[in-house]
Amino acid sequence: MKVILILLVCIVAPLRMAAARLSCPNVPHISTRSVCSNACGTKVLYDHCIDAMRSGGIDPSPSHTEETTVYAILAANQTWDSYRDTLKALSFQLQQNKSLSYADGEAYMGCQDDYVAASNSISIIMNGCLENCYFEKLVSMYLEGMASLENCRDRMLAPWMKAPLLYPKVERDRNKVLMAYLLGKLLAGL
Ligand SMILES: *[C@@H]1O[C@H](CO)[C@@H](O)[C@H](O)[C@H]1NC(C)=O
Ligand SMILES: *[C@@H]1O[C@H](CO)[C@@H](O)[C@H](O)[C@H]1NC(C)=O
Repeated sequence: MKVILILLVCIVAPLRMAAARLSCPNVPHISTRSVCSNACGTKVLYDHCIDAMRSGGIDPSPSHTEETTVYAILAANQTWDSYRDTLKALSFQLQQNKSLSYADGEAYMGCQDDYVAASNSISIIMNGCLENCYFEKLVSMYLEGMASLENCRDRMLAPWMKAPLLYPKVERDRNKVLMAYLLGKLLAGL
């Protein structure tokens, strides 16, 4: 029991602390509106960004500021959660769906590998880059992770696939990782 508790604390604590009082040198504190408008080139993305930050518990009022890193961590964390949900759905389909078509099964198996790769990227981004104020590798790690998701998307969009059930999740994940990337890129440019 104790061991489990300690493990839980170790996994959760760094993220919590990061959210609470991360302080990376030379990273500005800004409001949600500013960070979202700096990161996003379109109104649709901007609105998504505001919603994502609000749903993550950040006060969206113009007078409230956070270190830019906090927004990037939150978006990365939301991406990670979203990937986990998709991985769960993939393994449910592969293990429990007795009427899974052959084509869907093949695509989902490939996607499992793609998602493991994408999850590795986001985990390195969170625990290796953002937690340590080390932003140099951020963009390349994000691009790698996004390429893995593209692979999964292509599997699902293959001409022989008929409306795969999990395609909407992959689209959702692509939007999440795009947002995390756009916010992360602000740090890489500092
Ligand atoms: C990341 O998400 C987990 C659960 O999904 C949450 O417990 C944690 O506080 C989050 N961290 C940040 C920095 O938002
Ligand atoms: C099982 O897979 C098929 C297609 O391969 C899909 O149409 C069906 O909705 C899936 N069933 C469940 C319970 O997810």
